[in-house]
Amino acid sequence: MKHAVSQQIYDRIDNEMYQYDGDQWWKGNNVYHLLKGSVNPCRFPYFVRTYTQTLKRQAGGKLAIEVGCGGGILAEEIASAGFKLTGIDPAERSLQTAREHAKIYNLDIDYMPGTGENIPFPDAHFDVVFCCDVLEHVRDLPKCISEFSRVLKPGGVFFFDTFNRNFLSKLFVIKLWQEWKSTAMMPPKLHVYEMLIKPAELKELMLANNFDTTEFRGMSPNINPFKMISLLRKRAKGKITYEELSNVMKLKENNDTMVGYMGYGIKKKN
Ligand SMILES: C[S@@+](CC[C@H](N)C(=O)[O-])C[C@H]1O[C@@H](n2cnc3c(N)ncnc32)[C@H](O)[C@@H]1O
Repeated sequence: MKHAVSQQIYDRIDNEMYQYDGDQWWKGNNVYHLLKGSVNPCRFPYFVRTYTQTLKRQAGGKLAIEVGCGGGILAEEIASAGFKLTGIDPAERSLQTAREHAKIYNLDIDYMPGTGENIPFPDAHFDVVFCCDVLEHVRDLPKCISEFSRVLKPGGVFFFDTFNRNFLSKLFVIKLWQEWKSTAMMPPKLHVYEMLIKPAELKELMLANNFDTTEFRGMSPNINPFKMISLLRKRAKGKITYEELSNVMKLKENNDTMVGYMGYGIKKKN
């Protein structure tokens, strides 16, 4: 069973960047653009298709929470699909950015401070919990999964995406994307290898917390590794922007969960 990470490991991740860089989410030529340009086009259609077609439910008016919403890049898509959305995040500066952006686009999203480990809502309150690109950032994953189960109504759905932990994800997520200067597109302390999560570990935690049906789908770049490395090098040299990078390198849904993956679980009805 995966446990909360030690202080020693947690000290190596830079979760403070969402506070000191919290005004950067919508500014284009930076790492946050990848969430909008490369990740959303893969995960969000999957979430909507699963909710409306596989599970045959309607998004309109359903109560949803996005845990770790940052500056609102996924939250705005969720709200636009019709969910009545609350976004929580520990980084107040990111929440401020999210509020300002939603106001410009006339989106009714309630943003408030909070963490996955301590969700400021009563039991059985939400129809859907989204926690995306966040599970690999939290100190206490088991506590978060138990909180998601607690705040969901029976039959409610938990959607997620995160990174696997193995030699290949170490090569891509940690080395190529983060540590090696000639290819890095992410800050060096964005992810910590030991905090990445195997699908089997996440599934075990979900089953232990009252989720029964679960699905895991792969998310991988739509280009081969050689093309990706060539684009990463151009980006690192400043020859192309993050926007140009994400226009070419998009994640696609598949069966390969070796590096990135997404999925859902349903809270038991009894
Ligand atoms: C990579 S961003 C993901 C933003 C958004 N969910 C998305 O996918 O576009 C990670 C977010 O997780 C937040 N975060 C870090 N630790 C958290 C915790 N314990 N509980 C909830 N959110 C957390 C950070 O502040 C940051 O906004």
